[in-house]
Amino acid sequence: MRYLTFALAKGRLAKKTMSLFEELGITCEAMKDDKTRKLIFVNEDLKLKFFLSKASDVPTYVEYGAADIGVVGEDTILEEGRALYEMMDLGFGKCKMCVCGPESAREKLQHGEQIRVASKYPAIAKDYFYNKKFQTVEIIKLNGSVELAPIVGLSEVIVDIVETGSTLKANGLTVLEEICDLSARMVVNQVSLKMEQDRIRKLVYDLKKLTQRNHS
Ligand code: PRP
Repeated sequence: MRYLTFALAKGRLAKKTMSLFEELGITCEAMKDDKTRKLIFVNEDLKLKFFLSKASDVPTYVEYGAADIGVVGEDTILEEGRALYEMMDLGFGKCKMCVCGPESAREKLQHGEQIRVASKYPAIAKDYFYNKKFQTVEIIKLNGSVELAPIVGLSEVIVDIVETGSTLKANGLTVLEEICDLSARMVVNQVSLKMEQDRIRKLVYDLKKLTQRNHS
């Protein structure tokens, strides 16, 4: 039997994914060691490999088949626009993609003014403003701490993830428009789904049963 390889977005999503897998008897003890610098872990009995990567790289590994399966946020899937099969909503990592800024920017959004939008998600921001709102904007790509942009005058608004809203609140910003709901998703390589149909479908079936039970 060949190994089935999983690419997990390192951090909270990977931890939550592994605790869900554990409920199905899929374990990987070595991964639980928080101090480890290892990036790849093997379960020899089940012929499974897990590796941790930066979230934005998960769709790339899966599209090219370096991983059969990926677990990553819907935000990253939308942003990367890779050719993948999205198999299921894992039901955790729930948050929203929003346009945020100071209250004073609300008017500029409504009047369709030419504004600057800073984001870690330029493709999502572009799609929203150009294809849904038909508003011309200047999109400025940032790599983190995006909330800074409207505060220091780099942009009027940002497009970013809001989970608890505490980052916005702490910086005097607010949600101006909601773009979409987000959560963690399982994605599969298109060839892997054909080659490993039975194993992958069984895993998805078991996970769906488990997440439904956990939520009822
Ligand atoms: C994300 C996001 C917001 C924050 C939202 O950032 O970009 O900044 O979390 O969460 P909250 O609504 O619960 O406050 P992340 O922690 O990934 O850091 P980064 O901005 O440096 O990428």
